[in-house]
Amino acid sequence: MNTPLSQIAYLEIASPDTSLSARFYTEKFGMRIVDQIDDTYYLRCWGDHHRYSLVISPGEDAALKTMAWRTTSAAALDEAVERIEAMGDVTGQWSDAGVSHGRSYSFNGPLGHNMTLLWDFEVYEADEEHRSVFPDRPEKRSSHGAAPRFLDHVTIAATDVKRFAEWYSKALGFRIMAFTELEEAPITVFGVLTTNEKSHDLGIVLDTSDTAGRVHHIAFWVDHPEDLVRTADLMTENGVPIEYGPSIHGIGEQHYLYFRDPSTLRVELNSGGYRNYVPDWEARTWKPSQGSNNFFRNWNMPDSMMEAFPAAAGKTATEQGASPELTEELLNPWSTTTDAKVTHR
Ligand SMILES: [Fe+2]
Repeated sequence: MNTPLSQIAYLEIASPDTSLSARFYTEKFGMRIVDQIDDTYYLRCWGDHHRYSLVISPGEDAALKTMAWRTTSAAALDEAVERIEAMGDVTGQWSDAGVSHGRSYSFNGPLGHNMTLLWDFEVYEADEEHRSVFPDRPEKRSSHGAAPRFLDHVTIAATDVKRFAEWYSKALGFRIMAFTELEEAPITVFGVLTTNEKSHDLGIVLDTSDTAGRVHHIAFWVDHPEDLVRTADLMTENGVPIEYGPSIHGIGEQHYLYFRDPSTLRVELNSGGYRNYVPDWEARTWKPSQGSNNFFRNWNMPDSMMEAFPAAAGKTATEQGASPELTEELLNPWSTTTDAKVTHR
């Protein structure tokens, strides 16, 4: 699939206390603030080639305000916008400039998620203190906190996983790599899309809430799986409970570790994984029992992993599948007290 996108560029998240969140991401997680405008913070990982990859701005609850992708050229930005508007069900808005980037186009997708597309994004130039001895590195390696190398992916929550996947694949050329469906019925609870050789830079979990545009987690990369064990140790020592992991996902074969930031938003640290360059790859369908989420098939996910953001009545599925309670709701949507608004595919 021909995609006009080159990579995930940055995520903007909402926090009720941006100063507290920024302190977590700098002091405990290991990112660095490069800009602050009023209560909005712009942060980078040491290996991010662009100036920043995370924006923390004020909001009542933890939420994803936008997920930004960079296109492959200025012309590709125009092509991407033409393709989006040709879909016929969404319209967006151009903005002349943003912080450290040129014109951009933002739109709310058909399931309520805001996406920003841009081409002109400031390349990071390290000062003397942060300059690497290696020409390819934007900045010298950090060993502070988790020391994430770069932004890896975002996983959103949507009421129709397949509809989300097919819309973004058609509009923007994301390759659809895999789905997870329930053991009991062909109800899709998880999916992964990618613009690159990894299994995903955009994940989708099934959401049974009435709140559109929710997010499940944001994820950053480290070079070595051992870094996850070290991070789990450091987070535990510094008062940040580990929610799940470290272990390995079946889909993508990536090592994972999950914990929460002070706003309660879930953060994932990733490493490893396969590379897949097959241009006409056909999405595989997994069952949870095949280890879609837990490669070793020996470890159930805690119920807290079904929370998405902002908080809303109704749970999400997870990469692993659905809890017994949610499975019952999905299989018999009219027999439970929960008001499930799910489109089954
Ligand atoms: Fe993830």
